[in-house]
Amino acid sequence: MLRRPRRNRQSQAIRNLSTETHLNLDHLVYPLFVVNGNNIKEEVSSLPGNFRMSADHLLREIEDCMQLGLNSFILFPAIDEEYKDKTGTYAYHPDNFYLDIARKIKKEFPESCLISDVALDPYNVDGHDGIVKGGRILNDETLVQLCKMSIAQAEAGFDILGPSDMMDGRVQAIREALDQKGFHNTGIMSYTAKYASAFYGPFRDALDSAPVEGENIPKDKKTYQMNPANKREALIEAELDTTEGADFLMVKPALNYLDVIHLLKDNFELPIAAYHVSGECAMLIAACQKGWLNYEQAMPETLLSIHRAGADVILTYFAKDFAKMTKK
Ligand code: PBG
Repeated sequence: MLRRPRRNRQSQAIRNLSTETHLNLDHLVYPLFVVNGNNIKEEVSSLPGNFRMSADHLLREIEDCMQLGLNSFILFPAIDEEYKDKTGTYAYHPDNFYLDIARKIKKEFPESCLISDVALDPYNVDGHDGIVKGGRILNDETLVQLCKMSIAQAEAGFDILGPSDMMDGRVQAIREALDQKGFHNTGIMSYTAKYASAFYGPFRDALDSAPVEGENIPKDKKTYQMNPANKREALIEAELDTTEGADFLMVKPALNYLDVIHLLKDNFELPIAAYHVSGECAMLIAACQKGWLNYEQAMPETLLSIHRAGADVILTYFAKDFAKMTKK
């Protein structure tokens, strides 16, 4: 035998030399759920270890993470029913607590990277990412709201905006709206290939943002989020987002779509992000709680697989635990 691949696996030192993929904290973004009020920290029951937090707790959480070397965060708001309406106007209301929290974070931690969520679903009485009328999701009317929301978020100090709504033309509309107001340096991480997936359940529990049941309200998001059967279509979305001015292209979910991550990595020069979504994390947590998997081994292997597939950036609920493990 001239070739013995096992030679390169025989000791830790040799394995280190021949390691192809390195995952470190620089690649990770930690999603956090925020609520209005004071001294609130409620665990999301379908995503153990993750909490809805008011500003006071959130600031301490961010401080904690930054001490571990984790500096990038994506924030999602849980909105009280009384502030929801058909067009999501609270998203850009001057008193919006989500914008206020962003201001506080950027003031106390200017070196953090804060990513927003741009979509109507937390603010919309119908629980959809766009405006619902006559049983349909209106595209172009929604863009107007997304632009107002984006400007408010840029003003609040978010470094990067994350349009997660999957309306057509939203990256260009947002880019132009930002530039017009002088926000040339506010970036866009576009949810480029976001699939109509069954794996967003715990997230919708956290924010109480699932599509509402009712007459003339579509029961799912399949007319705007992508069909899980499609891969080539992701190239169309990526081409559009690139020409429309996106700074990052995202694939979501991550694990069931590793082929799509790889495809975009091979075909585009922009950094590729992958959202390791709530349901994907919840499955692993549940198996570990049952003692069927070992968290300290299965969790980093999972993140590594997403990175190996081609994701430069991974948004994951495991970011803080990974930071703790690598600190040791
Ligand atoms: C909504 C949004 C969703 C997620 C991020 N932004 C849910 C959805 O599209 O219904 C899901 C994230 C996760 O499951 O962790 N605009």
